[in-house]
Amino acid sequence: MDKLVIEGGRVLSGKVRISGAKNACLPILAAALMTEEACLIKNVPDLKDISTMIDILSELGRDVSRKGDEVEISSGSVKNVTAPYDMVSTMRASIAVLGPLLARYGEAKVSFPGGCVIGPRPIDLHLKGLRALGADITIEEGYIVARAGKLKGKRIYLGGHFGSSVLATANTLMGAALAEGDTIIEDAACEPEVVDLVNFLNAMGADITGGGTPTIRVSGVKILKGAEYSVVPDRIEAGTYMIAAIATGGRLFLENAEAKHNLALIDKLEECGGVITETSGGMDVSRRGRAIHPTDVTTLTYPGFPTDLQAQTMSLVTICDGISVITEKIYPERFIHISELNRMGAEIFLEGSTAIVHGVKKLSGAPVMASDLRASAALVLAGLIAEGCTEVSRIYHLDRGYEHIEDKLSAVGASIKRVSE
Ligand code: EPU
Repeated sequence: MDKLVIEGGRVLSGKVRISGAKNACLPILAAALMTEEACLIKNVPDLKDISTMIDILSELGRDVSRKGDEVEISSGSVKNVTAPYDMVSTMRASIAVLGPLLARYGEAKVSFPGGCVIGPRPIDLHLKGLRALGADITIEEGYIVARAGKLKGKRIYLGGHFGSSVLATANTLMGAALAEGDTIIEDAACEPEVVDLVNFLNAMGADITGGGTPTIRVSGVKILKGAEYSVVPDRIEAGTYMIAAIATGGRLFLENAEAKHNLALIDKLEECGGVITETSGGMDVSRRGRAIHPTDVTTLTYPGFPTDLQAQTMSLVTICDGISVITEKIYPERFIHISELNRMGAEIFLEGSTAIVHGVKKLSGAPVMASDLRASAALVLAGLIAEGCTEVSRIYHLDRGYEHIEDKLSAVGASIKRVSE
C-alpha cells in the first residue's frame, strides 16, 4: 500500500490544471449505456473510480477504450444487465447504471451498495423515482432487481430527508429520457454534475429542460444516439487547491476552474482572508494578510456549501485566529478526519453534527490515516501547513478522486512524495 510523505511549511506558487469532474463523469459514462451507438467522452480524469466504472461497462458487455483523457464506448449492445457486488462495493456511484439499463433494456440487477465510512447512504429516492416511472423493483440476495415493460412519464417529487439527491436525480432522469410521455422531477438536485448529465443526454438526442433548477422536465424520446462530450471541470478538486493556496499563504492559478460552481466556497474563503479573482481561463487564489480568520460553514445541497469540501475547509481553519463552527447537514457522521487532525495538534470538538474548531498557532506533522476520499484530501492539506513531516497512509482513497495529486502539488512547490509501505 502507498503512503504520502509530506514536509510541511512550503508556500505553494504556480499553476495547477483542474481535471474533469469525477462526479460528472461517472453518470455520463453510465448514460452511454442508453445508446447502442458509439460515444466519445473527453476531459475524463485518470482516477480509480473512473476505471471502476469502465470495468462495469465492460462487465456488462460494452467495449470501452481509454486514450489519454478520452474514453470511447464503441457501438454495441450490453450482454448482461448485472452490476456485481465486488464492483459496486468499491464505489457507490455504480448505482448510476440502474436507470440506464432499465430504460434501455427493461431490466437491471445492481448490487445494493450499503453504507460507507461517511455514514448511511440510503437509496430510497433512486427506487422512488424509478418506481414512479413504472419499474417493478425488489431486493433479492443483496441485489436491486428492477424490471419494466416500457417506463412511463410521471410528475415525481424527489426530495428526501436531507434535501435533493444527485445520483437519484440522475437515475430518474435517465429513466425518464427514454420513457413514454413527459416527466417532471420536482426537488431535483441542482448540482453542476446534474447539469452536465442533462447536457450529455441532450447531445444524445434527449429532450430535457430545467437542468440546474429544482424542476426538471423530460419529454421521453424513442431512442438516443451516440455523442461526443467534454466533461465539466471538477469543482471539488478546484476547491481543494483553492484551500491549499490560502492555507500555505501562497498563490495558485487554477486553470479551467469555474468560479460560478464554487460561489459558496469563495464566500467563506474570502471571510477567512482569501483573495479570489476569476479570469477567463480559471481562477487566481491567494491570501490577503498573514492571518487566517475564522468562519462558520453549514453544508447544504447546491448552491449551498458542498459537503465534499467540508473536511478540507476544516483543515484550513485549524490554524485560524479564533473559533470556527462547521455543521454537516448532508452526511451528519462525516467527521472521521477530526481525530486525525487532532493528532496533528488541532483542537476540534464535535457536538452532534457540528464541529467547533479552536484555531491553534500551528499544526505539527504526524503519521495519520486516511479514511475516505475527502478526509484524505483534508489530511494532505494539514500536512502542507504543519511543521515537520506528515505521513498519510491508506491513500488509495485519494486515488479514487484526485488526479495525480502529488505531481500537481510538487509542481507548485510542495514537498510531497508517494512511497510504498
Ligand atoms: N439520500 C437519501 N436517499 C437516497 C439518496 C440520498 O436520503 O436515496 C440522502 C443521502 O444520505 C445524503 C443526501 O441525500 O444525506 C445527498 O446524497 P446524494 O444522493 O446527493 O449523494 P450521491 O448522489 O450518492 C453525490 C456525490 C458525493 C457527494 C454527494 C452530495 C457522486 C458520485 N457522488 O453522491 O460525492 O458527497 O453527491 O453532494 O456524485 C465524493 O465525491 O467524495 C462524494 C461522496
